[in-house]
Amino acid sequence: MGLLTGETLGPLAVALAIFLLLVDLMHRRQRWAPRYPPGPMPLPGLGNQLQLDFHDLLSCFTRLRSRFGHVFSLQLARTPVVIINGLAAMREALVDQSEDTADRPPVPVFEHLDFGPHAQGRPFSPNALLNKAVGNVIASLTFGRRFEYNDRRFLKLLDLANEQLKENSGFLPQVLHAIPVLVHIPGLVDKAFAAQRAFMALVDELVAENRMTRDPAQPPRDLTDAFLDEVEKAKGNPESSFNDENLRLVVTDLFFAGIVTTSTTLAWALLLMILHPDVQRRVQQEIDEVIGQARRPEMGDQAHMPFTMAVVHEVQRFGDIIPLGLPHMTSRDIEVQGFRIPKGTWLFTNLSSVLKDETVWKKPFRFHPEHFLDAQGRFVKQEAFMPFSAGRRSCLGEPLARMELFLFFTCLLQRFSFSVPAGQPRPSDHGVYGGLVTPSPYLLCAVPR
Ligand code: HEM
Repeated sequence: MGLLTGETLGPLAVALAIFLLLVDLMHRRQRWAPRYPPGPMPLPGLGNQLQLDFHDLLSCFTRLRSRFGHVFSLQLARTPVVIINGLAAMREALVDQSEDTADRPPVPVFEHLDFGPHAQGRPFSPNALLNKAVGNVIASLTFGRRFEYNDRRFLKLLDLANEQLKENSGFLPQVLHAIPVLVHIPGLVDKAFAAQRAFMALVDELVAENRMTRDPAQPPRDLTDAFLDEVEKAKGNPESSFNDENLRLVVTDLFFAGIVTTSTTLAWALLLMILHPDVQRRVQQEIDEVIGQARRPEMGDQAHMPFTMAVVHEVQRFGDIIPLGLPHMTSRDIEVQGFRIPKGTWLFTNLSSVLKDETVWKKPFRFHPEHFLDAQGRFVKQEAFMPFSAGRRSCLGEPLARMELFLFFTCLLQRFSFSVPAGQPRPSDHGVYGGLVTPSPYLLCAVPR
Protein backbone atom coordinates (compact mmCIF):
# COMPACT_ATOMS: atom_id res chain seq x y z
CA MET A 1 0.00 0.00 0.00
CA GLY A 2 3.01 2.19 0.60
CA LEU A 3 3.36 2.35 -3.19
CA LEU A 4 0.25 4.51 -3.48
CA THR A 5 1.84 7.85 -2.73
CA GLY A 6 0.56 11.17 -3.98
CA GLU A 7 3.02 10.96 -6.86
CA THR A 8 1.90 7.58 -8.19
CA LEU A 9 -1.79 8.11 -7.54
CA GLY A 10 -2.19 10.76 -10.27
CA PRO A 11 -0.74 8.74 -13.18
CA LEU A 12 -2.58 5.61 -11.90
CA ALA A 13 -5.90 7.45 -11.97
CA VAL A 14 -5.20 8.73 -15.48
CA ALA A 15 -4.24 5.21 -16.65
CA LEU A 16 -7.41 3.78 -15.08
CA ALA A 17 -9.55 6.45 -16.69
CA ILE A 18 -7.98 5.77 -20.10
CA PHE A 19 -8.50 2.04 -19.61
CA LEU A 20 -12.18 2.51 -18.70
CA LEU A 21 -12.70 4.85 -21.65
CA LEU A 22 -11.14 2.26 -23.99
CA VAL A 23 -13.40 -0.48 -22.61
CA ASP A 24 -16.35 1.84 -23.05
CA LEU A 25 -15.25 2.70 -26.58
CA MET A 26 -15.05 -0.99 -27.48
CA HIS A 27 -18.64 -1.44 -26.38
CA ARG A 28 -19.66 1.58 -28.38
CA ARG A 29 -17.70 0.88 -31.53
CA GLN A 30 -20.91 -0.22 -33.28
CA ARG A 31 -21.94 3.42 -33.35
CA TRP A 32 -19.17 4.19 -35.79
CA ALA A 33 -19.84 1.20 -38.02
CA PRO A 34 -21.17 2.24 -41.45
CA ARG A 35 -24.96 2.60 -41.62
CA TYR A 36 -25.55 1.85 -37.92
CA PRO A 37 -28.85 3.47 -36.86
CA PRO A 38 -28.43 7.01 -35.42
CA GLY A 39 -29.26 7.91 -31.83
CA PRO A 40 -28.45 10.31 -29.00
CA MET A 41 -24.80 10.49 -27.90
CA PRO A 42 -24.17 8.08 -25.00
CA LEU A 43 -22.09 9.05 -21.94
CA PRO A 44 -19.01 6.98 -21.10
CA GLY A 45 -19.96 4.02 -18.90
CA LEU A 46 -23.59 5.04 -18.51
CA GLY A 47 -24.66 5.13 -22.12
CA ASN A 48 -28.04 6.86 -22.58
CA GLN A 49 -29.32 5.63 -19.22
CA LEU A 50 -29.63 9.13 -17.70
CA GLN A 51 -31.36 10.57 -20.78
CA LEU A 52 -34.34 8.20 -20.50
CA ASP A 53 -37.37 8.22 -18.23
CA PHE A 54 -37.87 4.51 -17.49
CA HIS A 55 -41.38 5.17 -16.15
CA ASP A 56 -42.45 6.54 -19.50
CA LEU A 57 -40.22 4.97 -22.12
CA LEU A 58 -42.96 5.21 -24.71
CA SER A 59 -42.98 9.03 -24.67
CA CYS A 60 -39.16 9.06 -24.74
CA PHE A 61 -39.22 6.81 -27.80
CA THR A 62 -41.83 8.99 -29.51
CA ARG A 63 -39.59 12.04 -29.03
CA LEU A 64 -36.45 10.20 -30.18
CA ARG A 65 -38.30 8.83 -33.20
CA SER A 66 -39.25 12.31 -34.37
CA ARG A 67 -35.58 13.33 -34.02
CA PHE A 68 -33.79 10.26 -35.42
CA GLY A 69 -36.36 8.40 -37.56
CA HIS A 70 -38.11 5.01 -37.47
CA VAL A 71 -34.98 3.00 -36.66
CA PHE A 72 -32.76 4.52 -33.99
CA SER A 73 -30.19 3.28 -31.49
CA LEU A 74 -29.51 3.64 -27.78
CA GLN A 75 -26.80 2.45 -25.45
CA LEU A 76 -28.22 1.08 -22.17
CA ALA A 77 -25.17 0.98 -19.89
CA ARG A 78 -23.03 -1.40 -21.98
CA THR A 79 -25.80 -2.90 -24.09
CA PRO A 80 -26.43 -1.53 -27.60
CA VAL A 81 -30.16 -1.52 -28.41
CA VAL A 82 -31.99 -0.66 -31.62
CA ILE A 83 -35.60 0.55 -31.44
CA ILE A 84 -37.92 -0.36 -34.32
CA ASN A 85 -40.93 1.90 -34.96
CA GLY A 86 -43.84 2.02 -37.42
CA LEU A 87 -45.43 -0.65 -39.61
CA ALA A 88 -42.89 -0.68 -42.48
CA ALA A 89 -39.78 -1.10 -40.29
CA MET A 90 -41.55 -3.59 -37.98
CA ARG A 91 -42.64 -5.73 -40.94
CA GLU A 92 -39.10 -5.69 -42.35
CA ALA A 93 -37.54 -6.70 -39.01
CA LEU A 94 -40.08 -9.15 -37.53
CA VAL A 95 -41.76 -10.66 -40.60
CA ASP A 96 -39.34 -10.48 -43.57
CA GLN A 97 -36.33 -11.40 -41.40
CA SER A 98 -38.25 -13.43 -38.88
CA GLU A 99 -35.57 -16.12 -38.53
CA ASP A 100 -32.82 -13.63 -37.74
CA THR A 101 -34.68 -11.52 -35.18
CA ALA A 102 -36.35 -14.22 -33.09
CA ASP A 103 -33.72 -14.65 -30.39
CA ARG A 104 -34.28 -13.33 -26.88
CA PRO A 105 -31.42 -11.46 -25.21
CA PRO A 106 -29.93 -13.16 -22.16
CA VAL A 107 -31.12 -11.68 -18.85
CA PRO A 108 -28.52 -12.57 -16.18
CA VAL A 109 -30.88 -11.61 -13.35
CA PHE A 110 -33.32 -14.42 -14.26
CA GLU A 111 -30.57 -17.00 -14.35
CA HIS A 112 -30.08 -16.25 -10.66
CA LEU A 113 -33.73 -16.77 -9.89
CA ASP A 114 -33.91 -20.45 -10.84
CA PHE A 115 -36.96 -19.90 -11.49
CA GLY A 116 -66.19 -8.69 -3.71
CA PRO A 117 -69.27 -6.90 -3.31
CA HIS A 118 -70.85 -7.23 -6.74
CA ALA A 119 -74.52 -7.71 -6.05
CA GLN A 120 -76.79 -6.99 -8.97
CA GLY A 121 -76.66 -3.37 -10.07
CA ARG A 122 -74.17 -2.31 -7.38
CA PRO A 123 -70.92 -0.67 -8.57
CA PHE A 124 -67.87 -2.94 -8.55
CA SER A 125 -64.44 -3.28 -10.10
CA PRO A 126 -64.39 -6.22 -12.55
CA ASN A 127 -60.64 -6.91 -12.34
CA ALA A 128 -60.56 -9.63 -9.67
CA LEU A 129 -63.41 -11.58 -11.29
CA LEU A 130 -61.81 -11.38 -14.73
CA ASN A 131 -58.51 -12.64 -13.30
CA LYS A 132 -60.24 -15.61 -11.71
CA ALA A 133 -62.20 -16.54 -14.83
CA VAL A 134 -59.12 -16.35 -17.07
CA GLY A 135 -56.93 -18.00 -14.39
CA ASN A 136 -59.18 -21.05 -14.41
CA VAL A 137 -58.72 -21.46 -18.18
CA ILE A 138 -54.95 -21.78 -17.72
CA ALA A 139 -55.46 -23.98 -14.63
CA SER A 140 -57.64 -26.34 -16.73
CA LEU A 141 -54.96 -26.60 -19.41
CA THR A 142 -51.96 -27.03 -17.13
CA PHE A 143 -53.45 -28.88 -14.13
CA GLY A 144 -56.74 -30.24 -15.52
CA ARG A 145 -58.70 -28.48 -12.77
CA ARG A 146 -60.46 -25.28 -11.87
CA PHE A 147 -60.36 -23.49 -8.54
CA GLU A 148 -63.25 -22.14 -6.48
CA TYR A 149 -63.23 -18.35 -6.45
CA ASN A 150 -62.45 -18.29 -2.70
CA ASP A 151 -59.65 -20.89 -2.85
CA ARG A 152 -56.80 -19.46 -0.77
CA ARG A 153 -53.97 -20.72 -2.99
CA PHE A 154 -55.69 -19.59 -6.19
CA LEU A 155 -56.18 -16.09 -4.79
CA LYS A 156 -52.53 -16.00 -3.77
CA LEU A 157 -51.42 -17.19 -7.22
CA LEU A 158 -53.42 -14.43 -8.94
CA ASP A 159 -52.18 -11.80 -6.50
CA LEU A 160 -48.59 -12.84 -7.04
CA ALA A 161 -49.00 -12.84 -10.85
CA ASN A 162 -50.09 -9.20 -10.68
CA GLU A 163 -47.45 -8.27 -8.13
CA GLN A 164 -44.74 -9.89 -10.22
CA LEU A 165 -45.65 -7.70 -13.13
CA LYS A 166 -45.19 -4.53 -11.12
CA GLU A 167 -42.10 -5.92 -9.42
CA ASN A 168 -40.29 -6.27 -12.73
CA SER A 169 -40.62 -2.58 -13.50
CA GLY A 170 -39.56 -1.56 -9.95
CA PHE A 171 -36.37 0.35 -9.16
CA LEU A 172 -34.19 -2.45 -7.76
CA PRO A 173 -34.88 -4.91 -10.63
CA GLN A 174 -34.09 -2.14 -13.16
CA VAL A 175 -30.75 -1.54 -11.43
CA LEU A 176 -29.98 -5.28 -11.51
CA HIS A 177 -30.85 -5.49 -15.22
CA ALA A 178 -28.60 -2.50 -15.95
CA ILE A 179 -25.65 -3.64 -13.78
CA PRO A 180 -25.75 -7.46 -13.85
CA VAL A 181 -22.64 -7.93 -11.65
CA LEU A 182 -24.79 -6.90 -8.68
CA VAL A 183 -26.66 -10.22 -8.88
CA HIS A 184 -23.73 -11.76 -7.01
CA ILE A 185 -24.54 -9.79 -3.86
CA PRO A 186 -26.18 -12.41 -1.61
CA GLY A 187 -29.89 -11.91 -1.04
CA LEU A 188 -30.31 -9.02 -3.49
CA VAL A 189 -32.03 -10.99 -6.25
CA ASP A 190 -34.37 -12.61 -3.70
CA LYS A 191 -35.29 -9.19 -2.38
CA ALA A 192 -35.84 -7.68 -5.82
CA PHE A 193 -37.96 -10.59 -7.08
CA ALA A 194 -39.75 -11.77 -3.94
CA ALA A 195 -43.14 -12.16 -5.69
CA GLN A 196 -41.59 -14.14 -8.53
CA ARG A 197 -39.97 -16.53 -6.06
CA ALA A 198 -43.22 -17.01 -4.13
CA PHE A 199 -45.11 -17.55 -7.41
CA MET A 200 -42.71 -20.30 -8.47
CA ALA A 201 -42.92 -21.96 -5.06
CA LEU A 202 -46.71 -22.18 -5.47
CA VAL A 203 -46.37 -23.55 -8.98
CA ASP A 204 -43.96 -26.19 -7.63
CA GLU A 205 -46.60 -27.23 -5.11
CA LEU A 206 -49.28 -27.60 -7.79
CA VAL A 207 -46.95 -29.52 -10.13
CA ALA A 208 -46.09 -31.88 -7.24
CA GLU A 209 -49.83 -32.55 -6.63
CA ASN A 210 -50.39 -33.23 -10.31
CA ARG A 211 -47.47 -35.65 -10.25
CA MET A 212 -48.89 -37.50 -7.23
CA THR A 213 -52.33 -38.04 -8.74
CA ARG A 214 -51.01 -38.95 -12.20
CA ASP A 215 -51.61 -42.46 -13.56
CA PRO A 216 -49.05 -43.10 -16.34
CA ALA A 217 -51.23 -45.92 -17.70
CA GLN A 218 -53.99 -43.40 -18.52
CA PRO A 219 -53.91 -40.76 -21.28
CA PRO A 220 -52.57 -37.40 -20.02
CA ARG A 221 -55.18 -35.24 -18.26
CA ASP A 222 -53.38 -31.97 -18.86
CA LEU A 223 -50.17 -30.29 -20.03
CA THR A 224 -48.28 -31.29 -16.86
CA ASP A 225 -49.12 -34.99 -17.38
CA ALA A 226 -48.13 -34.78 -21.06
CA PHE A 227 -44.85 -33.07 -20.14
CA LEU A 228 -44.11 -35.70 -17.46
CA ASP A 229 -44.66 -38.45 -20.07
CA GLU A 230 -42.01 -36.75 -22.23
CA VAL A 231 -39.64 -36.36 -19.24
CA GLU A 232 -39.84 -40.12 -18.72
CA LYS A 233 -39.19 -40.87 -22.40
CA ALA A 234 -36.19 -38.48 -22.34
CA LYS A 235 -34.57 -40.04 -19.26
CA GLY A 236 -30.86 -40.61 -19.87
CA ASN A 237 -30.78 -38.03 -22.68
CA PRO A 238 -29.08 -34.90 -21.28
CA GLU A 239 -29.71 -33.04 -24.57
CA SER A 240 -33.49 -33.16 -24.15
CA SER A 241 -35.31 -30.05 -22.93
CA PHE A 242 -37.99 -32.22 -21.28
CA ASN A 243 -36.85 -32.11 -17.66
CA ASP A 244 -38.36 -31.12 -14.32
CA GLU A 245 -36.75 -27.69 -14.29
CA ASN A 246 -38.25 -26.79 -17.68
CA LEU A 247 -41.67 -28.09 -16.62
CA ARG A 248 -41.86 -25.55 -13.79
CA LEU A 249 -40.64 -22.78 -16.10
CA VAL A 250 -43.19 -23.64 -18.81
CA VAL A 251 -46.08 -23.77 -16.34
CA THR A 252 -44.94 -20.53 -14.66
CA ASP A 253 -44.65 -18.82 -18.07
CA LEU A 254 -48.13 -19.92 -19.15
CA PHE A 255 -49.73 -18.80 -15.88
CA PHE A 256 -47.96 -15.51 -15.85
CA ALA A 257 -48.15 -14.61 -19.57
CA GLY A 258 -51.63 -16.05 -20.02
CA ILE A 259 -53.64 -14.51 -17.19
CA VAL A 260 -52.80 -10.83 -16.76
CA THR A 261 -52.70 -10.15 -20.51
CA THR A 262 -56.13 -11.57 -21.27
CA SER A 263 -57.86 -10.25 -18.16
CA THR A 264 -56.39 -6.76 -18.69
CA THR A 265 -57.72 -6.80 -22.27
CA LEU A 266 -61.17 -7.81 -20.98
CA ALA A 267 -61.00 -4.99 -18.41
CA TRP A 268 -60.35 -2.61 -21.34
CA ALA A 269 -63.29 -4.15 -23.21
CA LEU A 270 -65.75 -3.54 -20.36
CA LEU A 271 -64.44 -0.02 -19.78
CA LEU A 272 -64.83 0.86 -23.46
CA MET A 273 -68.37 -0.59 -23.45
CA ILE A 274 -69.48 1.63 -20.55
CA LEU A 275 -67.84 4.62 -22.21
CA HIS A 276 -69.48 3.84 -25.58
CA PRO A 277 -73.02 2.55 -24.84
CA ASP A 278 -73.98 2.89 -28.52
CA VAL A 279 -71.24 0.36 -29.42
CA GLN A 280 -72.36 -1.92 -26.57
CA ARG A 281 -75.96 -1.86 -27.89
CA ARG A 282 -74.84 -2.75 -31.42
CA VAL A 283 -72.82 -5.72 -30.11
CA GLN A 284 -75.81 -6.91 -28.07
CA GLN A 285 -78.06 -6.56 -31.10
CA GLU A 286 -75.69 -8.73 -33.15
CA ILE A 287 -75.52 -11.30 -30.31
CA ASP A 288 -79.34 -11.41 -30.15
CA GLU A 289 -79.64 -11.91 -33.92
CA VAL A 290 -76.89 -14.51 -34.38
CA ILE A 291 -76.80 -16.40 -31.03
CA GLY A 292 -79.96 -15.46 -29.15
CA GLN A 293 -80.37 -16.08 -25.42
CA ALA A 294 -80.97 -19.84 -25.48
CA ARG A 295 -77.41 -21.05 -26.06
CA ARG A 296 -73.86 -19.97 -25.31
CA PRO A 297 -71.61 -18.32 -27.91
CA GLU A 298 -69.28 -20.56 -29.94
CA MET A 299 -66.21 -19.76 -31.98
CA GLY A 300 -68.16 -20.57 -35.18
CA ASP A 301 -70.35 -17.52 -34.47
CA GLN A 302 -67.42 -15.22 -35.25
CA ALA A 303 -67.94 -15.62 -38.98
CA HIS A 304 -71.45 -14.11 -38.67
CA MET A 305 -70.56 -11.32 -36.23
CA PRO A 306 -68.43 -8.75 -38.08
CA PHE A 307 -69.28 -5.88 -35.74
CA THR A 308 -68.38 -7.82 -32.57
CA MET A 309 -65.14 -8.98 -34.21
CA ALA A 310 -64.30 -5.37 -35.12
CA VAL A 311 -64.99 -4.27 -31.53
CA VAL A 312 -62.77 -6.96 -30.00
CA HIS A 313 -59.93 -6.06 -32.39
CA GLU A 314 -60.37 -2.34 -31.73
CA VAL A 315 -60.29 -2.98 -27.95
CA GLN A 316 -56.88 -4.64 -28.38
CA ARG A 317 -55.58 -1.92 -30.70
CA PHE A 318 -56.76 0.92 -28.47
CA GLY A 319 -55.77 -0.81 -25.19
CA ASP A 320 -52.25 -1.39 -26.57
CA ILE A 321 -51.34 -3.33 -23.42
CA ILE A 322 -47.72 -4.28 -24.29
CA PRO A 323 -46.61 -1.08 -26.03
CA LEU A 324 -42.93 -1.98 -26.32
CA GLY A 325 -43.31 -5.76 -26.85
CA LEU A 326 -40.65 -8.02 -25.36
CA PRO A 327 -36.97 -7.57 -26.24
CA HIS A 328 -35.60 -9.52 -29.22
CA MET A 329 -32.01 -10.08 -30.29
CA THR A 330 -30.56 -10.43 -33.79
CA SER A 331 -28.94 -13.82 -34.45
CA ARG A 332 -27.28 -12.54 -37.67
CA ASP A 333 -26.35 -9.17 -39.18
CA ILE A 334 -29.53 -7.71 -40.67
CA GLU A 335 -30.66 -4.62 -42.55
CA VAL A 336 -33.75 -2.60 -41.69
CA GLN A 337 -34.74 0.48 -43.70
CA GLY A 338 -31.22 0.66 -45.10
CA PHE A 339 -29.55 0.55 -41.65
CA ARG A 340 -27.15 -2.25 -40.67
CA ILE A 341 -27.83 -3.95 -37.34
CA PRO A 342 -25.09 -6.37 -36.27
CA LYS A 343 -25.64 -9.86 -34.85
CA GLY A 344 -26.25 -9.87 -31.09
CA THR A 345 -27.94 -6.43 -30.95
CA TRP A 346 -30.99 -6.07 -28.74
CA LEU A 347 -34.16 -4.96 -30.54
CA PHE A 348 -37.01 -3.13 -28.83
CA THR A 349 -40.18 -3.46 -30.87
CA ASN A 350 -42.35 -0.38 -30.41
CA LEU A 351 -45.67 -2.17 -31.09
CA SER A 352 -47.55 0.93 -29.98
CA SER A 353 -46.08 2.90 -32.88
CA VAL A 354 -47.72 0.35 -35.22
CA LEU A 355 -51.05 -0.01 -33.37
CA LYS A 356 -51.32 3.80 -33.39
CA ASP A 357 -49.45 4.48 -36.66
CA GLU A 358 -50.91 7.73 -37.97
CA THR A 359 -50.25 6.75 -41.58
CA VAL A 360 -52.38 3.60 -41.24
CA TRP A 361 -55.33 4.31 -38.92
CA LYS A 362 -58.00 6.92 -39.53
CA LYS A 363 -58.34 7.81 -35.84
CA PRO A 364 -55.27 6.27 -34.16
CA PHE A 365 -55.91 7.70 -30.68
CA ARG A 366 -59.70 7.18 -30.57
CA PHE A 367 -61.79 4.05 -29.97
CA HIS A 368 -63.22 3.52 -33.45
CA PRO A 369 -64.41 -0.06 -34.33
CA GLU A 370 -64.89 1.07 -37.97
CA HIS A 371 -61.10 0.67 -38.32
CA PHE A 372 -61.89 -3.02 -38.88
CA LEU A 373 -65.02 -2.68 -41.05
CA ASP A 374 -65.39 -1.98 -44.78
CA ALA A 375 -68.10 0.20 -46.32
CA GLN A 376 -70.48 -2.81 -46.42
CA GLY A 377 -69.96 -3.51 -42.70
CA ARG A 378 -67.81 -6.59 -43.33
CA PHE A 379 -64.90 -7.37 -40.98
CA VAL A 380 -61.49 -6.55 -42.49
CA LYS A 381 -58.12 -7.69 -41.15
CA GLN A 382 -55.43 -5.03 -40.84
CA GLU A 383 -51.73 -5.72 -41.24
CA ALA A 384 -50.91 -3.13 -38.59
CA PHE A 385 -52.96 -5.05 -35.98
CA MET A 386 -49.99 -6.37 -33.99
CA PRO A 387 -50.91 -6.61 -30.28
CA PHE A 388 -49.39 -10.12 -30.25
CA SER A 389 -46.28 -8.87 -32.12
CA ALA A 390 -45.39 -10.56 -35.45
CA GLY A 391 -43.06 -13.12 -37.00
CA ARG A 392 -41.61 -16.29 -35.55
CA ARG A 393 -41.39 -15.08 -31.97
CA SER A 394 -44.90 -13.63 -31.75
CA CYS A 395 -47.14 -14.62 -28.82
CA LEU A 396 -47.59 -18.39 -28.62
CA GLY A 397 -50.84 -17.94 -26.71
CA GLU A 398 -52.50 -15.90 -29.48
CA PRO A 399 -55.02 -18.56 -30.62
CA LEU A 400 -56.09 -19.23 -27.02
CA ALA A 401 -56.25 -15.51 -26.19
CA ARG A 402 -58.42 -14.82 -29.26
CA MET A 403 -60.83 -17.57 -28.22
CA GLU A 404 -61.00 -16.30 -24.66
CA LEU A 405 -61.53 -12.68 -25.70
CA PHE A 406 -64.37 -13.53 -28.09
CA LEU A 407 -66.12 -16.06 -25.83
CA PHE A 408 -65.86 -14.13 -22.54
CA PHE A 409 -66.82 -10.85 -24.21
CA THR A 410 -69.89 -12.22 -26.02
CA CYS A 411 -70.99 -14.32 -23.00
CA LEU A 412 -70.83 -11.26 -20.75
CA LEU A 413 -72.72 -8.99 -23.16
CA GLN A 414 -75.27 -11.72 -23.87
CA ARG A 415 -76.21 -11.83 -20.16
CA PHE A 416 -75.53 -8.32 -18.87
CA SER A 417 -75.67 -4.64 -19.77
CA PHE A 418 -72.80 -2.63 -18.33
CA SER A 419 -72.88 1.04 -17.38
CA VAL A 420 -71.11 3.82 -15.50
CA PRO A 421 -72.60 3.85 -11.94
CA ALA A 422 -75.27 6.52 -11.55
CA GLY A 423 -73.91 9.83 -10.25
CA GLN A 424 -70.28 8.83 -10.92
CA PRO A 425 -68.04 10.77 -13.32
CA ARG A 426 -67.14 9.17 -16.65
CA PRO A 427 -63.97 7.09 -16.09
CA SER A 428 -60.88 8.03 -18.08
CA ASP A 429 -59.82 5.98 -21.10
CA HIS A 430 -56.13 6.75 -20.46
CA GLY A 431 -54.07 3.73 -19.52
CA VAL A 432 -51.62 3.46 -16.64
CA TYR A 433 -48.30 1.73 -17.11
CA GLY A 434 -47.08 -0.82 -14.57
CA GLY A 435 -45.57 -3.70 -16.54
CA LEU A 436 -48.69 -3.74 -18.75
CA VAL A 437 -50.88 -0.82 -19.74
CA THR A 438 -54.09 -1.27 -17.72
CA PRO A 439 -57.16 0.96 -17.62
CA SER A 440 -57.15 3.51 -14.77
CA PRO A 441 -59.14 1.89 -11.92
CA TYR A 442 -62.90 2.18 -12.53
CA LEU A 443 -66.22 0.87 -11.25
CA LEU A 444 -69.15 -0.36 -13.31
CA CYS A 445 -72.68 -1.66 -12.85
CA ALA A 446 -73.84 -4.94 -14.39
CA VAL A 447 -77.57 -5.43 -14.89
CA PRO A 448 -78.89 -8.78 -16.17
CA ARG A 449 -80.61 -8.41 -19.55
C1 HEM B 1 -54.63 -10.52 -25.06
C2 HEM B 1 -53.77 -11.40 -24.69
C3 HEM B 1 -52.31 -11.46 -25.04
C4 HEM B 1 -51.49 -10.51 -25.61
C5 HEM B 1 -51.84 -9.10 -26.06
C6 HEM B 1 -50.17 -11.11 -25.70
C7 HEM B 1 -49.06 -10.47 -26.26
C8 HEM B 1 -47.80 -11.02 -26.30
C9 HEM B 1 -46.63 -10.35 -26.86
C10 HEM B 1 -46.62 -8.95 -27.49
C11 HEM B 1 -45.58 -11.18 -26.71
C12 HEM B 1 -44.12 -10.91 -27.16
C13 HEM B 1 -43.89 -11.41 -28.56
C14 HEM B 1 -42.54 -11.02 -29.12
O1 HEM B 1 -41.55 -11.11 -28.40
O2 HEM B 1 -42.45 -10.61 -30.28
C15 HEM B 1 -46.06 -12.38 -26.06
C16 HEM B 1 -45.26 -13.47 -25.71
C17 HEM B 1 -45.73 -14.58 -25.05
N1 HEM B 1 -47.05 -14.88 -24.74
FE1 HEM B 1 -48.65 -13.66 -25.06
N2 HEM B 1 -50.21 -12.37 -25.19
C18 HEM B 1 -51.51 -12.64 -24.78
C19 HEM B 1 -51.99 -13.81 -24.24
C20 HEM B 1 -51.24 -14.92 -23.97
C21 HEM B 1 -51.75 -16.18 -23.46
C22 HEM B 1 -53.23 -16.49 -23.19
C23 HEM B 1 -50.67 -17.00 -23.26
C24 HEM B 1 -50.58 -18.42 -22.73
C25 HEM B 1 -51.42 -19.32 -22.85
C26 HEM B 1 -49.49 -16.26 -23.67
C27 HEM B 1 -48.20 -16.75 -23.60
C28 HEM B 1 -47.08 -16.08 -24.07
C29 HEM B 1 -45.73 -16.59 -23.92
C30 HEM B 1 -45.33 -17.89 -23.22
C31 HEM B 1 -44.88 -15.66 -24.54
C32 HEM B 1 -43.37 -15.74 -24.69
C33 HEM B 1 -43.09 -16.51 -25.93
C34 HEM B 1 -41.62 -16.59 -26.26
O3 HEM B 1 -40.77 -16.17 -25.51
O4 HEM B 1 -41.35 -17.03 -27.36
N3 HEM B 1 -49.87 -15.01 -24.10
N4 HEM B 1 -47.41 -12.26 -25.83
